[in-house]
Amino acid sequence: MYLTKEEERIYDGEAGESLRKAMEILVALGDINEAPHLIPIKSAHVSGASYKTIGDAYEFVESLDARVKVQTTLNPIGMDKERWRELGVSKEFALKQMKVLKAYEKLGVLPECTCTPYLIGYAPERGEHISWAESSAVIYVNSVLGARTNLEGAPSALAAALVGKTPLYGLHLDEERAPSILFDVECELSDAAEYGALGYLVGKIADDNIPFFKLKTMPNADDLKALSAALGATGSVGMFHAVKGEKGITPEALSYEKPSEVVEIEKKDIKEFFDASIPEDAVLAFGCPHCSTQELRELCRLLRSVKSKHEVFVFVARRLAERENAAIKELKRLGVRVVCDTCMVVSPAFERFSCIATNSAKAFRYVPSMCGAKALLVKTSNISRCFEI
Ligand code: F3S
Repeated sequence: MYLTKEEERIYDGEAGESLRKAMEILVALGDINEAPHLIPIKSAHVSGASYKTIGDAYEFVESLDARVKVQTTLNPIGMDKERWRELGVSKEFALKQMKVLKAYEKLGVLPECTCTPYLIGYAPERGEHISWAESSAVIYVNSVLGARTNLEGAPSALAAALVGKTPLYGLHLDEERAPSILFDVECELSDAAEYGALGYLVGKIADDNIPFFKLKTMPNADDLKALSAALGATGSVGMFHAVKGEKGITPEALSYEKPSEVVEIEKKDIKEFFDASIPEDAVLAFGCPHCSTQELRELCRLLRSVKSKHEVFVFVARRLAERENAAIKELKRLGVRVVCDTCMVVSPAFERFSCIATNSAKAFRYVPSMCGAKALLVKTSNISRCFEI
């Protein structure tokens, strides 16, 4: 990969050891993927923030002596920064977690601790080159917002943030964003959880082929968020395209030829995710990825007329919770536990439950392995069935 004089200077360690390491990661990535050169990025989003997932590897972040060159946000950590004791997180974990957070803050990373930075003022624009980790966010911003990022891991997103550049390959290029399998969804979908089930199915089939969805119904932003998260949970694709009839749903859907390989998805394929009844000991969890304003308001509306038989958790970015103060107050009044900065998958607080029912197909995929609990997928619109009227 071609490097400018300034980039070579960084590569040779003349700008310090931390930047040398960062540049080494970017050059290795660029060389493997035959990138011609680096390109500047507008923002980065870094994962590997929960002590539960990163463990003592955070000491590497702590050892770095540099500052990020672009606006860089951080994924959820392993606890609510303010209410970790109430959630039953141990003091030992909390102390380690705060060290992880401080290590990122020292580099200039914004401690937003959310997987939906695009909902709280950090949405990239169409065509903008960025370097984001966190598959749910990567797929959403590529597909729905038309930004350009590869599916970065924690080290490469951080390296790009420190250098302010990323190698030019993959989803940064028009030709690499072309769809290769058409998924003809022959049924109507009416709930974000159903879009999640679709993503779960398609992720498994498509793997790293970019899917092109032909839908019968028009999804809203939360449906597309659920679809993005589930696709990333079962596949390794970084984006999708979608149309309804001849109308483009995602901004680049009409820019490419429709793929000739077609897979049909029927109602029964989606329906089989939702057959299980909710056991008495289940807790309910909403907000994977972190809730939007509309989701918070919808939960308030759905829970208003029922009495909970189960403990209910809602996960949301702290900044959004502050903005939606009225909805948060109402949810708390209804007995819902509103949790910021973390989620049921990356916090150890949720390992004590035996069954977690959720409207998120991504959480449905990860809860068994990450929390050791049984997971059930429920439609948001059906949650009143889990309650006493
Ligand atoms: Fe976000 Fe946690 Fe789900 S990081 S996408 S809420 S698994």
